[in-house]
Amino acid sequence: MRLTITPLDPSMHNRRAFSCGSSSIDTYFHEVAAQASKQLHAQTYVLTDTDDHSALRTVLGFYTLTPHEYRDEEMDSTTARALKLKNLRRIPAILLGQLGVTVDWQHRRLGPMLLEHAFRKALFASCCVGGALLVTDPIDDAARSFYRRFEFQELAGGSRLYLAMKTLAKLYPDVVAAAKSSVA
Ligand SMILES: CC(C)(COP(=O)(O)OP(=O)(O)OC[C@H]1O[C@@H](n2cnc3c(N)ncnc32)[C@H](O)[C@@H]1OP(=O)(O)O)[C@@H](O)C(=O)NCCC(=O)NCCS
Repeated sequence: MRLTITPLDPSMHNRRAFSCGSSSIDTYFHEVAAQASKQLHAQTYVLTDTDDHSALRTVLGFYTLTPHEYRDEEMDSTTARALKLKNLRRIPAILLGQLGVTVDWQHRRLGPMLLEHAFRKALFASCCVGGALLVTDPIDDAARSFYRRFEFQELAGGSRLYLAMKTLAKLYPDVVAAAKSSVA
């Protein structure tokens, strides 16, 4: 088995068979993800096995990123001060909108694999166009505690979690270097 993470391609990937156990995440993947990626409203990446030679490859997991923005007044002052975001008026961010691993493959650390890929993609994009935070909205307490294991912090005044892009830049200097030297 050789796992790979690539952009969702509906002509190659079996969307229908995917189920992570959360109906809202499954519905997004079945009905919205491909169109949103095609229209460049979001980008979905899927985890598959390159040794799977079916006409439509089984999707083991996926995640979705989309650009996001905060207004100054939406950000609590403690976080704004800590991240030096005060008086920017508009605060650039990236939203990790969806993350799911298909039920049969849960508890084999595919979630962390997808999350690390998402961290690297979000950091690369932020190095190119700006992005101070990676934010996410956990669907329930279990998802919240999953994200909290990976350094996500609580954003005051709501249920949202965030990770400072500067933290990711320290973790993945190779991504920063690649973005800076990228000519495309
Ligand atoms: C949440 C989800 C993505 C995790 O993916 P996974 O591949 O099953 O993750 P694993 O169970 O292999 O866990 C990886 C690590 O996170 C930990 N973990 C998993 N779920 C956790 C939870 N609810 N709370 C705390 N830690 C958790 C595991 O203990 C493991 O750590 P370890 O290797 O140090 O023991 C997956 O279970 C899923 O798709 N759930 C349904 C949809 C969902 O909740 N999505 C979250 C986004 S809103």
